[in-house]
Amino acid sequence: MKYLSLMLPMYPLFCVMFFIFLYSQPCASSFKNLSCNSDDLRALEAFSNGLDSRIDGWKFHDAPAANCCSWPGVRCALFSVFSSPSSINSTNPSLRVVGLDLGSKELKGLLLNSVSGLDQLSFLNLSHNSLRGTVPPELFHLRRLEVLDLNSNDFTGDLGQGISNLTSLSYLDVSFNQFTGFIPDSFHGLQRLESFSAESNSLEGRLPNSLSSCSMLRLLNLRNNSLDGNIDLNFTSLVHLVVLNLGSNHFSGHIPKSLSSCRALEVLNFGMNNLHGTIPISFRNLQALSLLSVTNSRLSNISVGLQTLQECQNLTVLALTKNFYGEELPNNGIQGFHSLQALAIDVCALTGSIPSWLANIKELSFLDLSWNHLTGGIPLCFGSLDSLFYLDLSNNSLTGEIPMSLTKLKTLNSDSLSNNGSSSYDIPYFYWKNPPRTLRYKQYKNLPPTVDLSNNMMDGTIWKEIGNLRLLQVLDLSNNNFTGSIPDELSGLRNLETLDLSFNGLSGTIPVSLVNLTFLSSFDVAHNHLQGQIPKGGQFSTFSSSSFEGNPGLCGEFFLVCNPTSKPPKEEENDIEESNFVLEGLPLALGFISGLLLIVILVILPLLKQG
Ligand SMILES: *[C@@H]1O[C@H](CO)[C@@H](O)[C@H](O)[C@H]1NC(C)=O
Ligand SMILES: *[C@@H]1O[C@H](CO)[C@@H](O)[C@H](O)[C@H]1NC(C)=O
Ligand SMILES: *[C@@H]1O[C@H](CO)[C@@H](O)[C@H](O)[C@H]1NC(C)=O
Ligand SMILES: *[C@@H]1O[C@H](CO)[C@@H](O)[C@H](O)[C@H]1NC(C)=O
Ligand SMILES: *[C@@H]1O[C@H](CO)[C@@H](O)[C@H](O)[C@H]1NC(C)=O
Ligand SMILES: *[C@@H]1O[C@H](CO)[C@@H](O)[C@H](O)[C@H]1NC(C)=O
Ligand SMILES: *[C@@H]1O[C@H](CO)[C@@H](O)[C@H](O)[C@H]1NC(C)=O
Ligand SMILES: *[C@@H]1O[C@H](CO)[C@@H](O)[C@H](O)[C@H]1NC(C)=O
Ligand SMILES: *[C@@H]1O[C@H](CO)[C@@H](O)[C@H](O)[C@H]1NC(C)=O
Ligand SMILES: *[C@@H]1O[C@H](CO)[C@@H](O)[C@H](O)[C@H]1NC(C)=O
Ligand SMILES: *[C@@H]1O[C@H](CO)[C@@H](O)[C@H](O)[C@H]1NC(C)=O
Ligand SMILES: *[C@@H]1O[C@H](CO)[C@@H](O)[C@H](O)[C@H]1NC(C)=O
Repeated sequence: MKYLSLMLPMYPLFCVMFFIFLYSQPCASSFKNLSCNSDDLRALEAFSNGLDSRIDGWKFHDAPAANCCSWPGVRCALFSVFSSPSSINSTNPSLRVVGLDLGSKELKGLLLNSVSGLDQLSFLNLSHNSLRGTVPPELFHLRRLEVLDLNSNDFTGDLGQGISNLTSLSYLDVSFNQFTGFIPDSFHGLQRLESFSAESNSLEGRLPNSLSSCSMLRLLNLRNNSLDGNIDLNFTSLVHLVVLNLGSNHFSGHIPKSLSSCRALEVLNFGMNNLHGTIPISFRNLQALSLLSVTNSRLSNISVGLQTLQECQNLTVLALTKNFYGEELPNNGIQGFHSLQALAIDVCALTGSIPSWLANIKELSFLDLSWNHLTGGIPLCFGSLDSLFYLDLSNNSLTGEIPMSLTKLKTLNSDSLSNNGSSSYDIPYFYWKNPPRTLRYKQYKNLPPTVDLSNNMMDGTIWKEIGNLRLLQVLDLSNNNFTGSIPDELSGLRNLETLDLSFNGLSGTIPVSLVNLTFLSSFDVAHNHLQGQIPKGGQFSTFSSSSFEGNPGLCGEFFLVCNPTSKPPKEEENDIEESNFVLEGLPLALGFISGLLLIVILVILPLLKQG
């Protein structure tokens, strides 16, 4: 709709009529007597015949004459009447089809060249259908087209040189099809083009240089194709660019310095390419930049990168995953990043320690430094990150205790996530690390509140105060050297879905109160020194033996029946009563042989099954 208001002034002569038909369909009924242009009607009929099914509400055989202007998705405008509508008469074919708005109409079949018969067409939306085959070259004879939306169909073939004919075009979307071949270098004449998307096709070759001449361009989205070569548009002339998304291609070379002249740039995605060199120092001029992703490339010098980008006052999301191989995070010199909310510098084999300047990024709510080689402890000051809800430091070489301050993280101590100010752009910028894990993309704010410290060399105890992090959904402390017992207070983590404490040195019993964690769907305490009864009931009835294995002292459920004398803890009274009841309830008359049988059933059979 925002777009349509832009194109209206282009029809000064009949803009009033155009407005009526575009925005208030019911008004069309007051022109009922006017039948639509017979050439348009024929073109629509041929278009409809190319489809495998009929379009609801399109009635070609209405008497006396079909009025296509009242059909769903058809927009008309009065053309022959420029001065006063009073001269309209019922036979004059002055109503012409100017728009076809047929997005999400379950259309199947071919797009026939007949559509070019609608020679006044300025708006064509066939998106989110199942149209297949090639786009007829005749479509590009529709010189008045301003909006062409073919996204999410099954079109094949190449885009064709004909685009050069569409000099009125301001919106072109061919994303999510199966287009192949090069993007034609035919954009010279498209001076009004504001938005061009061709994401998720199989386009190859280089960026067409003629795109540099589309000086009105605000959005260019070519992600997820097989484009290669340098990113060598003349960005100096693209001063209106707001979104540039070239992610998931095969681009190589350097990040173009001239991009810094795009002062309106808010979203920049170069992720999943093969770029090298550094982040240009001139990027500090990108004061509107809100999201930057350069993941999965071969960039170097993280110090220069961070020093440059900290000056981008509006930078909210920064994804640097899988670059800067083996470098060291700068320890000082970073004071900026005043708006930064999400920072991912994972899978970089970074060395050195976690710098304390991170704790000064007051808005930081997402931090991923996992899969590096970071050493030392978690800075004590992290507890002052009032917005932090996602912390992944897993798979490093971190040592020391969990700082007590981490249990005071304000957001995780609250009852709900304030999900405001989220970016309206939906760009995949995370890296699919571990197949069993979720593919991390889309908006980071949709990720579950997480503390992941797994696969480090941390020690000390699990503070009972961790139970204050009420919002937490994922707590992973596995593969460390934590000792002591599992605090009863963890039952305060009412939203917890995943709790992994496996491969540590934990002792004591599994607190019975954990059965109160009603959302817990993944639980792992394997390979510790735990003992006593495995709690029963609640979500615990859904966990398998692998959650508990490697703890010779555990009993119940999958393992040895608990020996009543070796279970002193009070909270297990209920279970003792239960088992005592079974034993005491046995008629004494059963005698010794039955007792033996019972031992076979309860003890030996389960052991055989496990073997
Ligand atoms: C439109 O048609 C109706 C009857 O169908 C008629 O009464 C009316 O006068 C016509 N209006 C015009 C403007 O021709
Ligand atoms: C249509 O209008 C024109 C001029 O206004 C007139 O000559 C013609 O007779 C009209 N036709 C009918 C069918 O009313
Ligand atoms: C085309 O139609 C789809 C589905 O109705 C809609 O989401 C999309 O915004 C439309 N495109 C344009 C350019 O109006
Ligand atoms: C441009 O359109 C004209 C007809 O309007 C057609 O003859 C010509 O072939 C088109 N050019 C291309 C490159 O398709
Ligand atoms: C990338 O494009 C292909 C088609 O070329 C599509 O199947 C796939 O789903 C797209 N991937 C993403 C992440 O959009
Ligand atoms: C890039 O565009 C600018 C502004 O339109 C122009 O001055 C400059 O000469 C162009 N540079 C190249 C290399 O074409
Ligand atoms: C930075 O963001 C704020 C708030 O969204 C906005 O008002 C401001 O215009 C932006 N700055 C630039 C240079 O775009
Ligand atoms: C990064 O760039 C700066 C400035 O050019 C330079 O001094 C430094 O040595 C570089 N660091 C690395 C790791 O290349
Ligand atoms: C840890 O990170 C390395 C890369 O640094 C990776 O190869 C390995 O699979 C990761 N291990 C785990 C358990 O995630
Ligand atoms: C976001 O929420 C916080 C706290 O709930 C509030 O202080 C802040 O003003 C909100 N920001 C916006 C942009 O709504
Ligand atoms: C765990 O701690 C013990 C005792 O301090 C130490 O011997 C062992 O090497 C540590 N293991 C790891 C994996 O850090
Ligand atoms: C589970 O929660 C209820 C209500 O908060 C409480 O009364 C009960 O004692 C808890 N059970 C355990 C085993 O902690």
